[in-house]
Amino acid sequence: MEATGGTALCVCSFLFILTEVSSEFIHIPSLVHHGTEGKPLLLPVEIHFQLDEVEIQGTWSHTTTSGTRTTLVTFTKNATITDMMYRNHILFREPNVSLLIRKLNQDDEGDYHLNLNIQFHNNKGLVVKEEKTVRVIVDVPVSIPVIEKYPSYAVVEDKANVTWTCSVERGTRVVFQWLRDNVPLGPGDRYHFSHDNSTLFINPVRKEDKGTYRCIASNPISKGRQSRNMELNVYYGPYNLEVNSGQGLRTGEVFTINPGELVFFECQADSNPPNSYVWISKSRNTTQIITEGPRLEVRSYRLAQAEEYMCRAFNNATQKQDEAEFTLVVASLGTGKEKHTQEGGSVTPLAAITVCSLFIISCMLLFFLKRTCHPKRVLMNIYNRPLAEQKRPHRSGHEDASEDFGIYEFVSIPGKMESAQASCRSLARFESVQDMHTTIYDVIRHVPETPSHSLLK
Ligand SMILES: *[C@@H]1O[C@H](CO)[C@@H](O)[C@H](O)[C@H]1NC(C)=O
Ligand SMILES: *[C@@H]1O[C@H](CO)[C@@H](O)[C@H](O)[C@H]1NC(C)=O
Ligand SMILES: *[C@@H]1O[C@H](CO)[C@@H](O)[C@H](O)[C@H]1NC(C)=O
Ligand SMILES: *[C@@H]1O[C@H](CO)[C@@H](O)[C@H](O)[C@H]1NC(C)=O
Repeated sequence: MEATGGTALCVCSFLFILTEVSSEFIHIPSLVHHGTEGKPLLLPVEIHFQLDEVEIQGTWSHTTTSGTRTTLVTFTKNATITDMMYRNHILFREPNVSLLIRKLNQDDEGDYHLNLNIQFHNNKGLVVKEEKTVRVIVDVPVSIPVIEKYPSYAVVEDKANVTWTCSVERGTRVVFQWLRDNVPLGPGDRYHFSHDNSTLFINPVRKEDKGTYRCIASNPISKGRQSRNMELNVYYGPYNLEVNSGQGLRTGEVFTINPGELVFFECQADSNPPNSYVWISKSRNTTQIITEGPRLEVRSYRLAQAEEYMCRAFNNATQKQDEAEFTLVVASLGTGKEKHTQEGGSVTPLAAITVCSLFIISCMLLFFLKRTCHPKRVLMNIYNRPLAEQKRPHRSGHEDASEDFGIYEFVSIPGKMESAQASCRSLARFESVQDMHTTIYDVIRHVPETPSHSLLK
């Protein structure tokens, strides 16, 4: 019993050691190699034994992606037979077991098998068989992608589908990406992509699809080759029709203007191509086209009468139209702006009366001033007296009217005197005559004397 147990253990250990040792003899660092078309590719093999202690015999063979297997090289420690078809294509230098493909092409793709028999000199009869497989992938650089659109002409919103295709002449394992106005596009209700994203189907087309499209093609060795830009023009609208005016007063859809004021109305809508506009008058229970184009000019005098208007926008590509109605009311708004425009032209009777009244009031003020203050004398006093004496009480009376004829100077000092109280007493108190604003009056008429103190106070 013990003997059989020991034998089994021994066999197990031997097998374990054999497999363990076996995997140590050769090592391939990478089992998948990406190569670039036109470039060399080395399939390196490390050997973990002393070449002078062994005899070796092996082959490199290739299975293409379609499944055809060919033996490329048969070798021993000191002899190599290369398949005639591959002499210029591969490089093998025994006893180095690595295989070099000089210039990769797409046919080189597939699995490469290394079979190696190693016979150890010192252990006669022990032959270790090694088999390793390396996968080779050949990447082809991506050419500039070509973008195409069907249909090629502008399309009408909600009525058309658009198919975009992106294609490359060369390139392996290419993935495509789509951009509209530099924003990447993803699948959605209306956006459908083919499995490799080379086709984008938009169904149906909407206003927001309008823009500049571009596709990007990439693979592991070519990043982001970009196509040229292509426009998608979508006819849409009219949307958001509205009527605006810079003048008048707007309350909802009612515009109030001053009688006789010239008012412009603008009709605007979002539309591609641009709308054509017509303006329609709806007054008197009939509709009537007044004018065409985005602008309407109205001058109305008929007070308190509401007039109905309508702007109609029509897009001849989508065959859609929209209408906006508004009411025009003529009434005096009485804003400063309108007064200006009304009085700008000619002098109205009201203006004439105002000017005359102002003139008369000015004359009366001047008269009272003269009667109460005698500015001439006060000024003479100010100019002639020494400064210290200027605070003396002023002269209150009007001694002699015959002295009052002559040139008068009206003096005001900004910030110190209220305009209505330009009395001589204030003047007399000024210690300095600097910064005074003066007006010269020439009194040429004799005027009767009236008591005026109470009025000025
Ligand atoms: C085998 O050849 C390759 C290139 O042909 C070389 O890079 C590698 O170092 C060689 N290995 C040995 C052990 O000489
Ligand atoms: C758009 O695509 C839908 C679904 O594929 C199809 O039913 C419709 O007829 C297409 N419209 C046009 C204008 O090609
Ligand atoms: C005005 O229009 C209304 C409704 O469209 C109609 O009932 C009415 O008879 C019209 N009046 C005149 C004077 O045409
Ligand atoms: C549509 O209107 C534009 C002007 O707004 C005009 O140039 C164009 O010819 C019209 N197209 C059709 C099909 O009527």
